[in-house]
Amino acid sequence: MRRPMVAGNWKMHGTRASVAELTQGLSQLSLSSGIEVAVFPPALFINTVIDGLAKTKIVVGAQNSAVQSEQGALTGEVAPSQLAEVGCKLVLIGHSERRQVIGESDEVLNRKFAAAQAAGLKPVLCVGETLEEREAGKTLEVVGRQLSSIIDAFGVSAFANAVIAYEPVWAIGTGLTASPQQAQDVHAAIRQQLAAQDAEVAEGVQLLYGGSVKAANAAELFGMPDIDGGLIGGASLNADEFGAICRAAGN
Ligand code: 13P
Repeated sequence: MRRPMVAGNWKMHGTRASVAELTQGLSQLSLSSGIEVAVFPPALFINTVIDGLAKTKIVVGAQNSAVQSEQGALTGEVAPSQLAEVGCKLVLIGHSERRQVIGESDEVLNRKFAAAQAAGLKPVLCVGETLEEREAGKTLEVVGRQLSSIIDAFGVSAFANAVIAYEPVWAIGTGLTASPQQAQDVHAAIRQQLAAQDAEVAEGVQLLYGGSVKAANAAELFGMPDIDGGLIGGASLNADEFGAICRAAGN
């Protein structure tokens, strides 16, 4: 039985003061025991947030990590082993902002995915199509290719210890949400692609939806059979709004 997960991606937002306030707000939420909750602060604040949430069930993840698992000479990067050592549990791999703005390729993302797992972090692989790709009818082809990149390199069993987030690029930060049915269709296709090789892995993997999720639309999205929760951007920067989205996942 898959447990719903609600994850907040804070992206490159936050100051010392705003992070302290958000962490304090999150620490006061009363969260259903049936769901998993995670937040992904900017790397700079990971330690503080881990300390601030130590007495809660909220786990902390990183938004990015290095292509090699262990610490070493790699200027500007953070090793998965370092993240694990300070108490991180998860890491986002392949967010569209990193694929598109930074130019991370599938090949680089494969290395990051493997390095994260080698250090004991659970990767949250982000996949999704652009508006042009959707309009050209290429959604399932694009998402399928992003998924195949990992499957071809490491086998489908890599997803026995990973989460997948479907985030249509056109829905991120735009206020445009995929309809519950549009999201469900892609989630079902992702699960089928995994099931073609391993039914048990497909059945167990948590598939999150991301893209303009807020308290007002969360329940409807999370009610779909293959949507196991959400990866929340903007709305995760407000503890009350994030708490309301967590309640939608818990019901
Ligand atoms: P928004 O919820 O702000 O659209 O962002 C979604 C996202 O990119 C989460 O990773």
